[in-house]
Amino acid sequence: MVFGFGKKEQIIEKEVIKEVYRTPEKKKAQKIGIIVGSTREGRVSPQVANYVLQTARAHSDRSFEIIDIKDYDLPFMGTGEVNQAWNEKIAELDGYLFIVQEYNHGISASLKNALDSAREEWFNKAAAIVSYGSAGGIRAAEQVRLILAEQKVATVRTNPAFNLFTDFENFATFTPGEHMTAGMNDMLTELLDWADTFANR
Ligand SMILES: Cc1cc2nc3c(=O)[nH]c(=O)nc-3n(C[C@H](O)[C@H](O)[C@H](O)COP(=O)(O)O)c2cc1C
Repeated sequence: MVFGFGKKEQIIEKEVIKEVYRTPEKKKAQKIGIIVGSTREGRVSPQVANYVLQTARAHSDRSFEIIDIKDYDLPFMGTGEVNQAWNEKIAELDGYLFIVQEYNHGISASLKNALDSAREEWFNKAAAIVSYGSAGGIRAAEQVRLILAEQKVATVRTNPAFNLFTDFENFATFTPGEHMTAGMNDMLTELLDWADTFANR
């Protein structure tokens, strides 16, 4: 707080500090992983992940990549060798964008297992959630927030939530409405800001 400064000046001062410490080079160094939460045959999650990837690339020139849990063939935690490739990938990323689907009012077993399968690798990162289900997958999305809190991952507020009845054809083909674009961009702005803060703290 600077005495004699009005609110506007304080905001400008904060912006100046932000620009000095967070150079564009540092911002560009960030890598955000779009984590596909379901692994079942016939899943729609890859379609949602591809849409999120395209929207993210249109929003920012940072590095985004899709991380498919299925590719890692993770054993149930504690029943096999630790998958080092998974842990290394989670550690390497500067932020996460979770594609969350609702199964029986909760998250998929594969996503929970993937979250449990690493520990420190998740710590001190930012994350956002894009969810879907008959009620937008909100119940599952809120569970992911609670789990991530224990994994020291900070989740941003905006959670674009797609409805199986209106944003999909026959519950199988993803047809997101234009009205979701503003929320997607808000979510991306919040995520990149926090990922930046964690990466440069
Ligand atoms: C076992 C199972 C349970 C489900 N339970 C719910 C539910 O509680 N609420 C909901 O909105 N959708 C539920 N669904 C619908 C899924 O959200 C929908 O099938 C979605 O496409 C699943 O994501 P995926 O295709 O990526 O696997 C359920 C689907 C399955 C397979």
